[in-house]
Formats: sequence, structure tokens, C-alpha cells
Amino acid sequence: MNTKIVDLQGSDEKTDEIYREAAQIIRAGGLVAFPTETVYGLGANALNAEAAAKIYAAKGRPSDNPLIAHIADREQLEQVAAYIPDAARILMDAYWPGPLTMIFRKKSIVPDGTTGGLDTVAVRMPDHPAALRLIREAGVPIAAPSANLSGRPSPTTAGHTAEDMDGRIEMILDGGPCRIGIESTILDLTEEIPVILRPGYITYEMLVRLLGEVKVDKALDPEQWKYFRPKAPGQKYRHYAPKAPMTLVEGDTEAVTEKIRELAAAAEAEGRKVGIICTDETMDCYPSGICHSLGSRASLDSVAHNLYDILRSFDEEAVEEILSETFSSSEFGSAVMNRMLKAAGHKEIRVSEKR
Ligand code: TXA
Ligand code: MG
Repeated sequence: MNTKIVDLQGSDEKTDEIYREAAQIIRAGGLVAFPTETVYGLGANALNAEAAAKIYAAKGRPSDNPLIAHIADREQLEQVAAYIPDAARILMDAYWPGPLTMIFRKKSIVPDGTTGGLDTVAVRMPDHPAALRLIREAGVPIAAPSANLSGRPSPTTAGHTAEDMDGRIEMILDGGPCRIGIESTILDLTEEIPVILRPGYITYEMLVRLLGEVKVDKALDPEQWKYFRPKAPGQKYRHYAPKAPMTLVEGDTEAVTEKIRELAAAAEAEGRKVGIICTDETMDCYPSGICHSLGSRASLDSVAHNLYDILRSFDEEAVEEILSETFSSSEFGSAVMNRMLKAAGHKEIRVSEKR
């Protein structure tokens, strides 16, 4: 299949035509990748089981892993959700459009092919003009997982999306880099007390402030994850992962940089190409290895924004081993560390007490 990649920064007239064509592809059951504020999504008509099946084929994704339905207005939520609790209304007022996915009991209009056979549906209203316009013009909710091949880091640019999807889908809309860079928070509202199934930009603290009580899926606990099966089916797969094995080094910054230097030197002595994930503050601490900075330690926003791009660049550079610094896991840091731990397959070395 020939994938059409289009830049959305063109003249207005040309842009109108692009959205018309993209919406037509969605309505006809085809696939269009589009930007959101979190990561690029791989979109299909959420109400069409055959279209959803094409998403699984294009990504190489197991079909028990449900998709998020992206909507542009609240009427579309009424269309797919059987019951909308008060908590959801409070959260919609505060955070939609935005990086918060909520799980509801589904209506029968949503096919099992979209929800992996579950009787619930995940819904989100993305905070990106291109995504909202595409959904509006298509006139249907758009099911969209991250637009990566299954197992690879999520795409945060149209370039990443093309790396994985060129030749597999009809169209890629290029809206530039995604603002946030990691996937939305997922909150299950079908339980009596809402449960976070995936941490994201909307933090536990932000949700508690509005709802009072919120639980966190035990499978997300860095200490206990082994003993629990994640409630979001997708969270059980190896994820966000670069090709090379990755090790996180946790502790005081000085001890961490020293340990990474030591591990890098040992790997290089054995002839392995090493990649190091550092920060602006520690960039100069590493005399060997290919170093990429996530930005300043003071800005978790920049760390999240750069993470997947750096993981992908190590694939291109054919690095054979990756060593990475870690971050505090409070507030937005818990989402960043969740992705880093997954990318590393939970391989972590502690060099001093946890901060
Ligand atoms: O930011 C995002 O959420 C991005 C952009 C494109 O919107 N999308 C995204 O989709 O990350 P995906 O498919 O890569 O991740 C969706 C996650 C999976 O872990 C899936 O198992 C979970 O959401 N999920 C979807 N529907 C669910 C449901 N009904 N119950 C439990 N988990 C669900
Ligand atoms: Mg994904």
C-alpha cells in the first residue's frame, strides 16, 4: 500500500482538502495516523469492527488489547458509553479535551473488535486541533492506539510514525512533534472507586484533588508489579521498548553517574556499543558511550517529551546496551518512570537509598 504523508502546515484551501480526504478514508474503513497532544494515533472508525481489525494487523498487535475511542464532543460520549458517572462529568469539565482516558460500560454500538471483547470502552477527547477536526469531519468516534509497531516506543513525530507505518496504512497527517510525548492517563470509572490503570500527564494528585478517593492498579507499583495482572490488557506486554537491553541506575546523582561510567566502560571493553540516557546536568559526566540528554532534570515535561525519540534514536544507532538515569516518581514523574521501567523490562540497579 502506498502511504500518503501530508504536512498540515499548508495553505488553508489545501488543508481543507486533506481533512476531507482523511475523513473519507476513515468512513470507508481505512487507516489514518494523526497527531494528538500525547503521541501519534493510528485511527480507524471505532464503530466498524473490520476497520478496527486493520489496526491490529498494521501494528502486529494482539487482538485482546482494546483500543481507545477518540471523540470530539460530549454527544459522541453518549453514543458509546452506557452509563456516565458524576465523577466523569467532573473530570471532563476539568481535563477534556486533554490527556485523560476514561473507561465506561459500553453501548452495543461499539463492536467487540474495538474493545477486545470487553464490555467496557475507553474514551478520550484529545487536545489537538488536527485530531479534533479529523474526528468531526469523519463524523464517527475514531479508535486509535499509539501509531507504533507493537512493542516499539510510541511515535511522537510524523517521522517516527512513518518509520513504523509506511506502506501499511493509507495516510499520515503530519502535525509536527507531540506536545506531551507520553500516552494519556487511563482511569477506570466502572469501579466504585476510580482506578488508575496507566499513569500519565493527569496525575494521581490531580485526580484525588477532584474526586477525593482514587486507587492505583497494583500492577503499576514498581515494588509489587510482578504479583499482579494489569487491568489494562495492553500493560502486560513488553512496551515502549528499544531493541537493545536497557538498565536503569537509581540513586543519588553522583553515585549514579559513577555506576553508569563503570558499566559503560565494562561493556565497551567487551566490544559492545553503549548508549547512555542522561540529563543536561550530567551530560559532561560521561567520557564514553553515545549520550543523549532528556533535557534538564528540573523539567519533567522535557524529559517526557524527549524520551521516545531518544529510545528510537538508539535503535538507529544500533546501540547494543542502554544505561539510563532515573527520575523521582512523584506526580508526573510516576508516568515517566512507568514508561522507563517498561522500556527496561524492570531492570534496575540501586546504587544508594531511593530518593
Ligand atoms: O495518549 C494516548 O492514550 C494514545 C493517543 C493516540 O491517544 N493512545 C494510546 O493507545 O496510548 P494504546 O492503544 O497504545 O493504549 C491503550 C491502552 C492499552 O493498554 C489498553 O489495554 C488500554 O488502554 N485499554 C483500552 N481500552 C480499555 C478497556 N476497556 N479496559 C481496560 N483497558 C483498556
Ligand atoms: Mg501503545
